[in-house]
Amino acid sequence: MNSLPVAQVMAPPDVIDLGMGNPSPSSLPLELIRESAQKTLSQNDNSFLQYGTEQGDGYLRVALSGFLSKGFGFPVHTENLFITAGISNALDLLCSLFTKAGDRVFVEEPSYFLALRIFADHHLNVIPIETDENGLVPASLERALASAAPKFLYLIPTFQNPTGHTLPQERREQIVRLAEKHNFLIAADEVYQLLNYSSEPLPKSFGAYIESKNVISMGSFSKILAPGLRLGWIQSHADIVNRFAASGLLDSGGGLNPFTSAVVRGVVESGGLESNIGRLRQRYTNQIAVMDDALRRHLPRAQYAVPHGGYFFWLRFPEGMNTSELRKRASPFKVDFRPGALFSSNGGLKNFMRMCFVYYEADEIEEGVKRIAACLHSMK
Ligand SMILES: Cc1ncc(COP(=O)(O)O)c(C=O)c1O
Repeated sequence: MNSLPVAQVMAPPDVIDLGMGNPSPSSLPLELIRESAQKTLSQNDNSFLQYGTEQGDGYLRVALSGFLSKGFGFPVHTENLFITAGISNALDLLCSLFTKAGDRVFVEEPSYFLALRIFADHHLNVIPIETDENGLVPASLERALASAAPKFLYLIPTFQNPTGHTLPQERREQIVRLAEKHNFLIAADEVYQLLNYSSEPLPKSFGAYIESKNVISMGSFSKILAPGLRLGWIQSHADIVNRFAASGLLDSGGGLNPFTSAVVRGVVESGGLESNIGRLRQRYTNQIAVMDDALRRHLPRAQYAVPHGGYFFWLRFPEGMNTSELRKRASPFKVDFRPGALFSSNGGLKNFMRMCFVYYEADEIEEGVKRIAACLHSMK
């Protein structure tokens, strides 16, 4: 029998898809999960097979609060944590609970294109706000606020997808003050906050500002452990956490993913999560060097800043170049990438391209970049 689909794989096996934002199969820590699952399943306590407590497994929240307090450098309290099925789920729940069709939401231009898909499912009116090499521009946010406040501002403040940019501390504080003044929520997607490959300290997570009641920091195990776990968290003021916990979804189905939570709790408690992140940092640092070198040699006209964290290179090509058109011609070259226009809420960014450095091994990264260069030359 042919194997049946399990993983969400997008590219055929002979295509190198440098656009894909998934971790590599070879980096998914089966042994760590196996050890913890075996331990969990050999105990007599079977409470994780019951409907879960609405806020999420209490033991996981305790373990996570310790882990995040260390990682973020400030205290993270269990009562401020709510367990989700990942950031995609958190965003969907946020839209269900805090918006109705037609409401305004602000996003960075560019932003994570699959979050834009979730906002479209909720029929939200998405308004792009300008960014520069330091992320969202507060003056542009103020200009947009002059006409009307959004229900929320969706931000990826650290190692942004797709740009890799990080919002400095001062801008974070300015944006929090604007949220308080104009009464909107900040939905900070911090999926890459713990994937810093340099020794430079990062600006504080938005979790540092939850006292304001305007801030929701969203985290995920997808990029630091494994996306198939479908597990993440929200860190916010207890009033907001309680609103999430009181949703109809949880009233009916109980807290999210109690079984997975019990397994991941073991990985966090044993220090396995921390060591896994250490391994990823090393691996991704090498892959960045390989991609940087390949880009310099094969795509010298692409401009970019070498990323210090996250998953992506964001390439700028000369004006007039259209990466969506280039992609249409890529299939005979057995290569793929994500064109800039995908990440734009206003049809811009046509001369940009997102490349991911985490999925492929070094030789495939080099080969993929070479194929894109060949495709580009064929267009001239
Ligand atoms: C910015 C951003 N947010 C969210 C996600 C998805 O997170 P999760 O797997 O926790 O739903 C991704 C995955 O690529 C991402 O890049």
